[in-house]
Formats: sequence, structure tokens, C-alpha cells
Amino acid sequence: MKEANLNQIILQNILQYTDIGIHVIDKARKTIIYNEAMGTLEGLAMHQVVGKDLLDTFPSLNENTSTLIRVLSIKKPILDKVQIYINFKGQKITSLNSTIPLIWKDQIVGALEIAKDITYLNRLSNKLMDLQQELKNNNYNVSKGEIKHYTFNDIIGISKNIKEAIKVAMRAKDSPSSVLIYGETGTGKELFAQSIHYEGIRRKGPFIAQNCAAIPETLLEGILFGTEKGGFTGAVQREGIFEQANGGTLLLDEINSMSYGLQAKLLRVLQEGYVRRIGGVQDIPIDVRIIATTNEEPLESIKNGNLRKDLYYRLNVVYIRIPPLRERKEDIPILSNYFIEKYNPLLGKNILGIEEEVLDCFYKYSWGGNVRELENTIESAMNYAINNRTYLTKEDFISFEHIIKDSNILKSNVVEIDKPLSDYLDEIEKQIIETSLKIHNYNITQTAKKLGMRRQTLQYKMKKYILGAK
Ligand SMILES: Nc1ncnc2c1ncn2[C@@H]1O[C@H](COP(=O)(O)OP(=O)(O)OP(=O)(O)O)[C@@H](O)[C@H]1O
Ligand SMILES: [Mg+2]
Repeated sequence: MKEANLNQIILQNILQYTDIGIHVIDKARKTIIYNEAMGTLEGLAMHQVVGKDLLDTFPSLNENTSTLIRVLSIKKPILDKVQIYINFKGQKITSLNSTIPLIWKDQIVGALEIAKDITYLNRLSNKLMDLQQELKNNNYNVSKGEIKHYTFNDIIGISKNIKEAIKVAMRAKDSPSSVLIYGETGTGKELFAQSIHYEGIRRKGPFIAQNCAAIPETLLEGILFGTEKGGFTGAVQREGIFEQANGGTLLLDEINSMSYGLQAKLLRVLQEGYVRRIGGVQDIPIDVRIIATTNEEPLESIKNGNLRKDLYYRLNVVYIRIPPLRERKEDIPILSNYFIEKYNPLLGKNILGIEEEVLDCFYKYSWGGNVRELENTIESAMNYAINNRTYLTKEDFISFEHIIKDSNILKSNVVEIDKPLSDYLDEIEKQIIETSLKIHNYNITQTAKKLGMRRQTLQYKMKKYILGAK
């Protein structure tokens, strides 16, 4: 088969089976590619679009409102634009679109639009905001015990490192200054943020947490600052969480995932002390304390272009670094016992502790998922433990052989050499990749970057070692 034919078949299959809408026009604005997913989004059949002039197919568009036509003239991509429209079938659709100029030998030859249906995401974010509003209106009282919130008493640890972090947090609890918390996944960032709020002078005010990752910029902007009728969502008038958190604390989780543009808008709000809803004209004064968290070292984030320097200076008034568990192994026994006590009544067990041998492995293990991983490990072992068991033994940790095994591999002076070196190296490689994947929430690009390998190589190794998000 000729290569050109093969490429043709591959392209056809990609276009047919992807759930991303694809629309390509040539420079005369005639549609040359329009796939089924795009048809589903826009409520049109392929034959109604292919071969036709774009403005004939979409008479409501013009040269200014059609992104495809605009890209033909500006010759630059328009990326990640949220579009909300009623399609030809009358359905309200929210899509995330990128439009890219097609350039061949310095000449524009056409434009490509790719669109992802994020209607469900928009619906979810609206629902979330409604729920938050409802919580607030009903004067939902957290102190009545309807919801568990954390205080400093819940932060367990005796190591110098963790005590130092707690000291800084306690000193900052009554101040209005912003706080930046850095810690790997599972180190207790949320625990610290809640403790600062619920033990500080704002404890009677609301505490609202918002994750900044995984939500497209325009939706997040609406969630943060609110929307007015006729704003980009075409949606109802709604307060943003800045307004909802007024008088209290707003936790912005994973600030390093927020887009650069939105970081600039956030900075403006923090500096000026008021917000303006999207599509609104009124400046609404706000009094909100910000706690931001990041799982990447802040200076590294700035270097990688994930965090604006000016926003960093604004947030970093109080800086708390929560050390990873491997840097405070002396906390492992006390944390383990704390979790045993926590799960005893929930699981109907009466366990008193962990056998020395297991603790020994715990000390040697690297705990990529930090305290959360330790908690899950203990909870799981307690489920396996037979009923009259008083101390957790190695057998109870059956789904965690890797902890037992990894801790052995790393004790190279004690290992009896009973297999080829390559097998040991494979095991170590597997452990490092697995840990790094956990730290980066199974994000392939970030993990590959950190490990200095290509994405394809990482994917190959994940297959080889059967690693993937659990
Ligand atoms: N020092 C600690 N003492 C007791 N429990 C802890 C401690 N640190 C963390 N935990 C527990 O570990 C789990 C993870 O904590 P938390 O959600 O605060 O981590 P995080 O840093 O926000 O993680 P992520 O980056 O994944 O959001 C929670 O169940 C929390 O209660
Ligand atoms: Mg968290």
C-alpha cells in the first residue's frame, strides 16, 4: 500500500472515531473536512457542510464572529476559547475550541478548528456554584458538627520539620495576609488551610475551597468572580466564590495550574480589594483571606512558567512548606497509631499497633503519596487483619507488597544476590516511576519531564511494569 493511501486511511479513522469535533476550511472559506463529532456538537450532518462556503452553512456568522475566518486573516491561533451556543437542534452547547491557521511555505492555506464538548462540565460548575450558594443561604452551621472541619489538633507529628510548619501556620492564623502552602500531594495542605481558618479570627466566616486545576480558564473565571446576565455563559446572574467567601477564607488549590491570564486577573482583585462579575459593571468590595496551595516548589513553578512572579510575591506573605513524609520518618509511628485509632471504631476492630518488622519497612519506603498513602495503607491492612489480631503484621499488608519489597531492594547491603542485576534495576526503575507518577497525579507529561524521559518512553515503561492510575 502506498504511504499516501495509508495516511489517508489513518486520517479518516481518526476523524471518524475521535470525540473531538474537527472542522477545516480552505483559504476560500470552503469546508474541506468536517467530522461526525463536530456534526453532533453543532447538530448538522457532514453533507450539509462539506464542500460549502462557511457563511452559507452558518448564515448567523460573519467575518468578525467566525473564528475560522478570523484565523485566516490574523494567521495566528485562537486557543481554548469557551463558546456557548444553541445548536441547529436547539440544544445548548458549551464547547472548548481552538482554531489554528494552516500554513504551508509561509502561505496561509486554510484553518482548522477543534472543539471539545464541555457542556457537562459547565453544568457541573453551575451546579457547584448553586450548591455553594445554597449552603450559604441556609446558614449551614459547620460548628454543629454537620461537617467535619480540621483544626491544629488534627495535625499529627512530632518531627522538628512538621512542628516548625505548624508554628508558622499558628502564628499566621489571625492575620489577614495571604498564605502560600507548598507540599507534595497528601502532605496535609488542606488540613493546614482549614486549621488556619477554623482557629483564626475568621472562623465564623465562610471557608470555601476551589481547585484551580482541570477547569477551563473561562469557566474558572466565572466561578471565581461571578457572572451577570448576558455575560459569557449567557447564564443567570450568579455570585462568584470571592463574594461567597466574603468575611472568610478562600482556599485556591493548585494555584500553579491556573492559567497565566487568570492569575493576572486574580492579582488585580487581590490588590484592589474588589471584584467585577463577568459581564457586570459594578465593582463589589470584598474582604477575603486567600490561602493558596501548590504541589510544585514555587520558585520552580515561576521558572517553568506555571506561576506569575508578581502573584507569587502577593501570595507569599506567609509561606508554609509542609515537608514530605520521607523527610520526617520519625512521624511514621505516631501517624500510624493515630490512623489505627481512627479506623478501629469504623471497622469494628481492636488493633493496638503495628509489628516492628512492618514499621521497619515503613521507615525504608519512600511514601510518594505521603500521609494520605500511609493512611490508606493502614486502613487497607486493618480490613485484611483477622478479627482477633492485635498487631498488624506483614501478612495484613497483602496489597502493599511493594512497600515491603521496595524497602528491601533499597537495603542493598542486606539483599542476598539471587537474580541478575537487570532485574534489580528494573525493580528500582519501576519504583521510581511509580512514585513519580503518584506525585504528579499520573500526569504523563509532567512525570516524563521530571524523570527526564520522553513521554513515549514513559508510556512504554508504564506498560512494561503495568503501572497506571488506580
Ligand atoms: N499531619 C497529619 N496528621 C493527620 N492526618 C494527616 C496529616 N497530614 C495529612 N493527613 C491526612 O492525609 C490526607 C491527605 O491530606 P490533605 O488532603 O490535607 O493533603 P493535600 O496536601 O491537600 O493533598 P493533595 O495535594 O493531594 O490535595 C487527609 O486524610 C488528612 O487528614
Ligand atoms: Mg488538597
